[in-house]
Amino acid sequence: MTYYLTISIIGDNMRSIKISKIENMNTKIGIIVSSKEIDEFYAIIDKEAVKNICGVGEYIITHNIHGETILCTISNIMPFNNLLSNELSHDKQFNDIIPYSSKVLQDSSGFAAKVKIIGVVKEDFTIESNKTCVNLLEKVYTADNNILNAIFSRGNIQIGCLSVRKNIPVSLDAKTLCSRHFAILAMTGAGKSNTVAVLAEKMHEKTKGVMNIVIIDPHGEYTKMKHNSEINILQPVLDPSQLFPDQLSKAIGLNGGASVQKSYLTYAMHTVKYHCKGRPCGYGKEYLDKIEEKLVEWIDKLNNADSKSVTIRYYDGVKSRTKTLKKDDESSINRVIEKLRMFINKNKDILGFHRGMFNIQSDKINILDLSRVDEEEMITVVSDFIKKTLKERIKATHGQELYIREFELPTVVIIEEAHIFAAKNMTDKSAYWISKIAKEGRKFGVGMGIISQRPKELNSTILSQTNTKIILKIVEPNDQRYVQESSENISNDLLKDMPRLSTGEAVIVGSSLQIPATVKINKYNGKLGGVDGFECLKNI
Ligand SMILES: Nc1ncnc2c1ncn2[C@@H]1O[C@H](COP(=O)(O)OP(=O)(O)OP(=O)(O)O)[C@@H](O)[C@H]1O
Ligand SMILES: [Mg+2]
Repeated sequence: MTYYLTISIIGDNMRSIKISKIENMNTKIGIIVSSKEIDEFYAIIDKEAVKNICGVGEYIITHNIHGETILCTISNIMPFNNLLSNELSHDKQFNDIIPYSSKVLQDSSGFAAKVKIIGVVKEDFTIESNKTCVNLLEKVYTADNNILNAIFSRGNIQIGCLSVRKNIPVSLDAKTLCSRHFAILAMTGAGKSNTVAVLAEKMHEKTKGVMNIVIIDPHGEYTKMKHNSEINILQPVLDPSQLFPDQLSKAIGLNGGASVQKSYLTYAMHTVKYHCKGRPCGYGKEYLDKIEEKLVEWIDKLNNADSKSVTIRYYDGVKSRTKTLKKDDESSINRVIEKLRMFINKNKDILGFHRGMFNIQSDKINILDLSRVDEEEMITVVSDFIKKTLKERIKATHGQELYIREFELPTVVIIEEAHIFAAKNMTDKSAYWISKIAKEGRKFGVGMGIISQRPKELNSTILSQTNTKIILKIVEPNDQRYVQESSENISNDLLKDMPRLSTGEAVIVGSSLQIPATVKINKYNGKLGGVDGFECLKNI
């Protein structure tokens, strides 16, 4: 049987490949000997081919009964010998085959491959699902490099090459990656940061000036990734005037039980804002000082009163009210003042006018460096950042005037250590805003990438909204299962691959790549890494 396939123009590579006979392009390596499932068959593979070209994961092609070319991958290779029977004991078999010459023994042995069918290769190199079976005794071939090239180079962000064919580049589709979000997941040291750097660099090359890229960087790992002219470090700014009362309460450490203290903080915040009469009440420390002054004013009033109680006037966010303060209230108010002062002292370097945090430059890779901020404050900063990003982009999409003009452009936010900000229980505001972007970001030009070495601590809704998953080595079974549950594209075969991957090797699934693939990610050729805590052991 002869099949003709004409390969035309692929993407922007303008490669025009004329394939006349598919048999001419691909090396014949075996024949199909059994098939029980529509997506699977077994083939006897030529011994030399097994030694020289074929291994698990290798791409092969054959034809279905309609003569369509189908792309497949080898999921297992097993040796066999016709002289050996499964039913007999080893001793018996050994005695039985001793009389045979080594030539006979050799001639009776071979290799069988278990082969998974990926899909039908169409003329434009899209892959469609295979809906029919294969013929027994049909020939199988190694897939030609040109075919694989055409399938895996459709995207515009080249981040690596096929693990089984180092000469076949793999490119992801930038638009799908950004608009439908992505996740990079792996155990520690498997190559997540390297992947982020490669991805950000390639994405930046293609989208410079038309899209903002921001990496949220808890450890300052990316701050030296490029020459200064190509990265823009954003300094975190915490502006309490942007926080709601429950957020500020949490930030300064008023816990769940401190309801009386929280209510005084809330009254003071509303009252300060009320007295500003719609004008800004100051930013950062200036705003907190005003709240403190208001609380001190109430205590002074109490202390200077002749009686044991005093009436104060406050604002509750809706209208002006009065309240009777008693001597017992003094300690609660003092506790709030104490917490406020501790908070100001701890965060004096980052308290300020939050507009400064958004000096995003679309012609650079932007890095929000959180390395000098404690985890609690980090969450508040990131929550504020994500919220503003989404809100401004919603305004931009509706043609409204922007407060932060940088958000005229679509923006992709890549969140390192995402389990801190998008935790399973969603208790933090940052998780709320990240989930909003996961669900609605696409409509408003906000893309998101979440990076984590602790997948099972990530919120499952957020994780399942990330369409492209780049999964490097994961050995922890619970992590593996959690990742599999978050995507219908991760088969049991791919799950089995996760612990076997080497450093920098990733299984990539999702719509930014036509079909799942195991990819060796390029090694980033710039500088990466935060502070090395064990630098002193380098030369011992
Ligand atoms: N694709 C790759 N090719 C070659 N080396 C790589 C590749 N990916 C990562 N490495 C190397 O492996 C080491 C760990 O990589 P990386 O820091 O990216 O891992 P990580 O998963 O981010 O680790 P952590 O969990 O500590 O953040 C680094 O020395 C890095 O250079
Ligand atoms: Mg890392």
